[in-house]
Amino acid sequence: MFRLTRSQFLRRLLPGLLGLICAFTFAACGTSTTSGSSGAAGGSNVLRVATEPAFPPFESQAADGTLEGFDIDLFKAIGEASGFTVEFQSLPFDGIIPALQAGTIDAAISAMTITKERAQTVSFSRPYFKAGLAIATKEATTDVTSLDSLKGKRIAVQIGTTGQKEAEKIEGAEIRTFDSAPLALQELSNGNVDAVINDAPVTLYAIKSGNIKGLKVVGQLLTEEFYGIAMPKDSPNLDKVNAGLTTILGNGKYAEIYQKWFGGQPPTLPETAPL
Ligand code: ARG
Repeated sequence: MFRLTRSQFLRRLLPGLLGLICAFTFAACGTSTTSGSSGAAGGSNVLRVATEPAFPPFESQAADGTLEGFDIDLFKAIGEASGFTVEFQSLPFDGIIPALQAGTIDAAISAMTITKERAQTVSFSRPYFKAGLAIATKEATTDVTSLDSLKGKRIAVQIGTTGQKEAEKIEGAEIRTFDSAPLALQELSNGNVDAVINDAPVTLYAIKSGNIKGLKVVGQLLTEEFYGIAMPKDSPNLDKVNAGLTTILGNGKYAEIYQKWFGGQPPTLPETAPL
């Protein structure tokens, strides 16, 4: 039987319901917001963009509440290149695709992996980052070395992520889901699980920055994943997001943002994600 707790209900279904209510209200009153009427070919000039902001260095919340990170700088630069502005909002990661489907947001940039399954319900931009999943365990742990070694073990993941999907393939594993990657890593640091499966750049950053203590990354990258900007299926904004991304990949702006958050030169990216 499929049941939702109250908080799951609020996180997953409320954004969609609110969207429907707003849509009806606007239709009924004949009100129209005029953003997008100033000549851009298709779509709006102010994009409502969602992110789940506990995933540094891609997105995080500064002390004063403003969003910062690679994804934030990237989308702002894409907007500058293509002539639109970006209004960010925070959403739980597993509420992002439902909100795109409901049309309550225009796009999401949230270190979201382009997957076949997601591409059935949303449209992705061209890939903007190459990442992959990695296993983290306690520094002192010696029997966690590979996916195979995780059989029957306790694994923490962020809910709705490719890390959760990967963990679910492991025989006999006990999977604990958390609302954010830092919460999953904290659970590991506290010794309540044996491993975390999460995006390698984020886990490595958490260890390096000292945000989480006593952890290490083991073994090889488990997957190769490409991040994309997600939009509602066949969104009118898709072309200008892609055009802006292509512009900044070519004119050095992308490399500048990459340098700021990761150091070094960015790897070359494919034009489409291999699915
Ligand atoms: N790349 C992974 C995925 O798409 C994890 C992304 C989580 N992003 C976030 N902002 N919390 O499932």
